[in-house]
Amino acid sequence: MAQAPSVPAFDLVVFGGNGDLALRKLMPALYHRERDGQLEPGTRIIATARSALDRDSYRALIEARARPHIAEREFDGEVWRRFLDRLDYLRLDAADASQPGWMGLHERLDPSVEKVRIFYLATSPELFGPICRSLKGSGLVTAAARVVVEKPIGHDPASAREINDQVGLVFAEERIFRIDHYLGKETVQNLMALRFANALFEPLWHRGEIDHVQITVAESIGVEGRGAYYDRSGALRDMVQNHLLQLLCLVAMEPPVAFSADAVRDEKLKVLQALRPVTGADVARETVRGQYRAGAVQGQAVPGYLEEIGGGPSATETYVAIRAALDNWRWAGVPFYLRTGKRLQERSSEIVIQFRHVPHLIFPTAEGDVAPNRLVIRLQPDEGIRLHMMAKVPGPGGMRLKPASLNLSFAEAFNTRYPDAYERLLMDVVRGNPTLFMRRDEVEAAWAWTGPILDSWGQTQDEPKPYIAGGWGPTAAATLVGRDGRAWHEDMR
Ligand code: BG6
Repeated sequence: MAQAPSVPAFDLVVFGGNGDLALRKLMPALYHRERDGQLEPGTRIIATARSALDRDSYRALIEARARPHIAEREFDGEVWRRFLDRLDYLRLDAADASQPGWMGLHERLDPSVEKVRIFYLATSPELFGPICRSLKGSGLVTAAARVVVEKPIGHDPASAREINDQVGLVFAEERIFRIDHYLGKETVQNLMALRFANALFEPLWHRGEIDHVQITVAESIGVEGRGAYYDRSGALRDMVQNHLLQLLCLVAMEPPVAFSADAVRDEKLKVLQALRPVTGADVARETVRGQYRAGAVQGQAVPGYLEEIGGGPSATETYVAIRAALDNWRWAGVPFYLRTGKRLQERSSEIVIQFRHVPHLIFPTAEGDVAPNRLVIRLQPDEGIRLHMMAKVPGPGGMRLKPASLNLSFAEAFNTRYPDAYERLLMDVVRGNPTLFMRRDEVEAAWAWTGPILDSWGQTQDEPKPYIAGGWGPTAAATLVGRDGRAWHEDMR
């Protein structure tokens, strides 16, 4: 792998330092950056949380809970010790503005005003505003300070605006890094390379050649002990408002003039603004929500959603399918089918670009036998790109046609470890590069589209459609696409 470019030494303060995100994602990501030699000697990581831990017990926690998320073959004892040496812990109740903990943080941080100082808010979004106020009140926001906020940013359009206002009172927009970890995924960035570093596809990338687009983020896991959060959230807030809409933006946006933060984000914003609102009676027609029941995923029996969260009732959706439309010149009339769900048959995220049929068939074959081209961009697992084409069956016997595919597997092509999204994104924060982060207007435009769908679901008496864990979601999702004479990709295989 190419040598990772170095970044300046930094102080990173992680609020929610003993939470799931910090333990499963952030600390392993930082270990990998250490292993690649990207962390300069003066770099320090200070975790904060309410628990009564000290530096040693926090390091023991990291050993027990973060280390298992590092593959054995990538583990190096010496690097790990060097990494642990950078870790510190401060007990701090982030919700309490008055306490001395904030002064303790002052003492732990490098006083140099030039040193990059990152406040990573891996907490619930209600704390984003109060933490920022306390940081400012304690004089911790230096010129080189920046803040990272995790999704979900708010619960609905109004709360998102309020959080953005509160954070914006303390940090200028270019110092606010709103993470959507999908943008840090290698294959998601590859989507931009595919479109804008190759001349081949762009001339075909429009309503004249493309019949429809499918974006699927399927998970086989359930709510994984996050029931309390998830039941208030649901799949639309948890996945669609951010990850799926970001993917849609990258597929649908116009070529930006440069790969720079504002050029890219301006184009993404235009896509969000072009989304046709789904409101009122359209919600029932254009969306499907589901909730899983007990079943079996890859041969393993799993409980239903209600049992997993410790009992119902609950109308929270664990599956969503939406037929979205973009009202602009490039995409008018091209449906974008989005779907995501938990406890589906397999973990599989992909974008399918379905091209149109050939305009005229010259072979003595029934039209249905010539499948239109399909480009499948596989985000995870088995990252790669597959182009489905028609080919002649070898041998005599006339012009018999059969689908065949061109297959680019990134693992085979590059033979390298795929870094976790957080590794890239954390280093971008240190460098001060917000290209792969969401700008305020993007987040609010995404909420403006999802808000009315949530409102409509909130008003209806209809329950989410049940689906059996281990399948592909409610049958109504197949109907949503089938109504247009189309099928989901796994049904087309
Ligand atoms: C998170 C959601 O943002 O993304 C989770 O909160 C979901 O519910 C996760 O499981 C999926 O991320 P990935 O990287 O595993 O596809």
